[in-house]
Amino acid sequence: MKPKVTVVGSGNVGAECARRLLQSNLCNVVLIDIVEGLPQGKALDMLQSCAIEGYAGTIIGTNNYEDTKDSQIVVITAGLARKPGMSRDDLLHKNETIVKGIVEQIAKYSPNAILLLVTNPLDVMTYLSYKASKFPTNRVLGMAPLLDQSRMEAFIAMELNVPITDVSAMVIATHGDAMVPLPRLSTVKGKPVTELLSKEKIDAIVARTANGGAEIVNLLKTGSAYYAPAASAAHMAIAMLKDSKERISSCVYLDGQYGEKDIYLGTLAKLGKNGVEEIVEIKLTPEEETAFHAAAAKVRADNQKLGYTK
Ligand code: NAI
Ligand code: 2OP
Repeated sequence: MKPKVTVVGSGNVGAECARRLLQSNLCNVVLIDIVEGLPQGKALDMLQSCAIEGYAGTIIGTNNYEDTKDSQIVVITAGLARKPGMSRDDLLHKNETIVKGIVEQIAKYSPNAILLLVTNPLDVMTYLSYKASKFPTNRVLGMAPLLDQSRMEAFIAMELNVPITDVSAMVIATHGDAMVPLPRLSTVKGKPVTELLSKEKIDAIVARTANGGAEIVNLLKTGSAYYAPAASAAHMAIAMLKDSKERISSCVYLDGQYGEKDIYLGTLAKLGKNGVEEIVEIKLTPEEETAFHAAAAKVRADNQKLGYTK
């Protein structure tokens, strides 16, 4: 019997993530949403595509949490997406209510699940989910640093006209304007970009990475990015399903790493069947450290607005 993976929210990110999980052949997928008919219709459409493409998994759409019972992993994408001119932080209180309600249902029906958060503001929603679920910290994590990293990789590849697969970038801290891209640790075929690009070009890439979500919102006009976000969330879920132990930039609970405690922020983490199996602390320069703590202060202030801090 394949493990069950639930995707909560069958909008742009959720549906694309569910499709990728279905095509992984590693799990049976449950797609759930508050809107009646939406997850059922999308799931049926995806299931029918399996016959053509030769995938053997199953997927159901539902509005009932009983169908999510005993999920191994739950990807939470439900909530509002950013609209032009709206910051991630504007979403804070609206998505708090939505995510808290979902987490309570998941904790009831799948008390052993791993929660993978996508809903924005990501670092705060992940912290809230940890508090609301009362799950151990290794079973609650968030997706965003991998997405931010993939954006930086795309911009470096575009600038240097090299295959994106030759590029490796690193972005840590928060999924927001205060994110901390690390050009020093970003490479093309192992060579640091700091040796390949001028400071002006690197600064422009760093700024474009931090603005990467808003750039797509402004282009799409009705909604936000979903192909790369869904690919990132599915990649993380698949690493845990496969128990791959891959080191993936993730939003994880810090308990002293980088001098920060009781907060969810982005850094490298080893992912496996137990969720977050190791947190990798990157040695930062004093300037990067200052930026990391500034990001932490911003996230902590939002955590405090929600009233879940100790
Ligand atoms: P969307 O609007 O296409 O889909 C959201 C879905 O959530 C809708 O189908 C809606 O009916 C559903 N929903 C709302 N309340 C619900 C509830 N209580 N229970 C179940 N489902 C509910 O939005 P999209 O583009 O899929 O984005 C979803 C979220 O992910 C947003 O908060 C967005 O900002 C965030 N996001 C985060 C990223 C990250 O890097 N962490 C990247 C991209 C999006
Ligand atoms: C993004 O970065 C909206 O957070 C989302 O695309």
